[in-house]
Amino acid sequence: MRKAVAIFLASAAALEMTAAVRTSAEIDSCVNSLLSQMTLEEKIGQLSQYSYYKADEGTLAQVRNGLVGSYLNIFNPEECNRLQREAVENSRMKIPLVFARDVIHGFRTIFPIPLGQAASWNEDIVRGGAAVAADEASSTGIRWTFSPMVDIARDARWGRCAEGFGEDPLLTSRLGAAMVEGYQGEDLTNPNTMAACVKHFAGYGAVEGGRDYNTTWLPEPLLRDIYFPSYKAGIDAGAATVMCSFNDINGVPPSGNEWLMNDILRKEWGYDGMVVSDWGSINELVPHGFAEDRKDAAVLASIAGVDMDMEGHCYDNHLLEAVKEGKVDEKRIDELAGNVLRLKYRLGLFDNPYVDMSRANRFYAPESLELARRAVEESAILLKNEGAVLPVDMSKVKKIAVVGPMADAQHDQNGTWVFDLEKSHSVTPLTSLKEVAGDKIIFSPGLAYSRDKKRAGFADALKAARKSDIVFYFAGEEAVLSGEAHCRTDLTLPGAQSELLAELKKAGKPIVMIVQAGRPLVLGKDAELADAVLYLFHGGTMTGPGVVNLLTGAVNPSGHLPMTFPVTSGQTPIYYNQKNTGRPAQSITWIDDIELEAGQTSTGCQSFYLDAGVAPAYPFGYGLSYTTFKISEPRLSATEMPVDGQITVSCDVTNTGDREGKDVIQLYIRDLVGSMTRPVRELKDYAKVSLAPGETKTLTFTLPASSLSFTGRDMKPIVEPGDFQLWISEDAQSGTPVSFKVVNK
Ligand code: GLC
Repeated sequence: MRKAVAIFLASAAALEMTAAVRTSAEIDSCVNSLLSQMTLEEKIGQLSQYSYYKADEGTLAQVRNGLVGSYLNIFNPEECNRLQREAVENSRMKIPLVFARDVIHGFRTIFPIPLGQAASWNEDIVRGGAAVAADEASSTGIRWTFSPMVDIARDARWGRCAEGFGEDPLLTSRLGAAMVEGYQGEDLTNPNTMAACVKHFAGYGAVEGGRDYNTTWLPEPLLRDIYFPSYKAGIDAGAATVMCSFNDINGVPPSGNEWLMNDILRKEWGYDGMVVSDWGSINELVPHGFAEDRKDAAVLASIAGVDMDMEGHCYDNHLLEAVKEGKVDEKRIDELAGNVLRLKYRLGLFDNPYVDMSRANRFYAPESLELARRAVEESAILLKNEGAVLPVDMSKVKKIAVVGPMADAQHDQNGTWVFDLEKSHSVTPLTSLKEVAGDKIIFSPGLAYSRDKKRAGFADALKAARKSDIVFYFAGEEAVLSGEAHCRTDLTLPGAQSELLAELKKAGKPIVMIVQAGRPLVLGKDAELADAVLYLFHGGTMTGPGVVNLLTGAVNPSGHLPMTFPVTSGQTPIYYNQKNTGRPAQSITWIDDIELEAGQTSTGCQSFYLDAGVAPAYPFGYGLSYTTFKISEPRLSATEMPVDGQITVSCDVTNTGDREGKDVIQLYIRDLVGSMTRPVRELKDYAKVSLAPGETKTLTFTLPASSLSFTGRDMKPIVEPGDFQLWISEDAQSGTPVSFKVVNK
């Protein structure tokens, strides 16, 4: 009886608090009050997350008995409410469930994949897209998503580079934080929001060989300077959850890594949210050879600080026994369960556990589709535009050949992680071109899908090209060729796409190649054959309208590369913030130029590839426009800066062309000499600026000395006096540097 009264009071207390938004102290008090009523089994129940298959009696019993804390992959509001009612009304502790789903770049309205959103360099686009995703997904009962993925990716072979924001810590940090803000809004108790999940902590993008789930060796300075910042930025933006990663780091998988989960995440960064494992990553400690069996895995993960076991069936089957055997202290279980309960309070689920059926299944709002189209327009990168073949004045062309496997790919234009895609809503480039150009369009795909090797369609495609004034060639990758577990060692266009392009060239007409892919591709000869190249990282629902606005010039391309493009697949991993080495390439000796029986040292003994040189095909930050811009020399407020000071950097940007355009102005530095070798460039700020023809704007950046710090040999951040260079440029290779010094105070 006493317990029942206590529960009633706890619930009443909780109800009383619905009047005021709970402070964290109030939430802690509610959490502690609940924990003091819960059995060990019920606490462990909160630590288990299952993928939902069907709400059979077994599932309902599981819920009623308080043996589950969360489900993922249920997105039916009625079903969510049915399960929730079982939890909130029929279980002993009446603790609500939290429903989760991978909503990575949209739920029903699909935005460009995150790598594409990164190419926009526009936090507002990313934040807005996440808010749309939260609004749509939460209308089905989903209140937690496993996004943003902010793993730094330097290797295009890794299929999951599609899900992140590229190779740079600053760009990934700003966009990852914007995505967290978009999902969580101003008030996470608002039922239109979702808890974000910063993932995959940590260093997952450094998998050896770009092969998914592979091992990672990351010395602490590299972890701290390159890989950690984006996770920290997401946490500082208020991310309610973090997901640990599959890979092992220096031999210790994050699911059992106390240094990562406790020393760094909790102690150094002060994170007080909830940590969820990746799918089965706790039980995978066994195949990693890090845990003897699943019970050992459960012990290691719970001690390391993984709060919730996603589909690993380690906590539910082994933690009770482990506690009874004294292998895990019940206090530890209280901490883990407390983090789960805190998340549910922060989501407002104790006050508002059910989906409001009056707003259930709300998708495709016009303003959402409009934003998704703008995201496509801002994320497409113009890589080449020989002879200004673009934009095309549709009133002046008689016939347009539309060719290629990606011209009308309602599924594949959405890219990876689109579990909830309704492809009938995808607007393809062919559909949109027909809308604007009607019977001027001659469509002949040439290939049925991106991996297609059959040439039966080539002749007809060539005929279409011969009959036309211009060819729009839609090439790229099917969605399945990137994303989790989808890594490639040959980054060229799949199937017979290059052969089809060579065939089309015989028509002698201008060719615009529009690539839709989930990663940087090796475009090599294809980019030579095409007169213009427009590149999209899978654009989503509104690819068609966005691409047509870009091809016709209704919108001027403004995307800039978030990842370096390699010349050959063998050049990966390749990234802009590389080290100079002791033998930087001064000149390249190309493999075909080497004399027969040439001497051992005849090729110069410098750091380059005989068959690929050292420069990328396109550098990080690169992107063309239909207009041109001029950037003045940077003006520094001082050429000397104390180690605890700052300088401002100004420049004038002028649109020197005849049409409006946006440019991404990037500020890079180089620390010329350090107690550790330093990268040849580091992005320290950027701004996307819109300019009318002839317009000039002055940009001013603040550069604090603290932004020049790096992790020293003692693993502590350090700002060292010395000489620096600074660029203001439109990519990581262009611009003329100016110099400044950091001096002791
Ligand atoms: C997957 C992914 C992770 C995802 C989770 C749930 O294996 O690694 O990013 O959020 O499982 O689907």
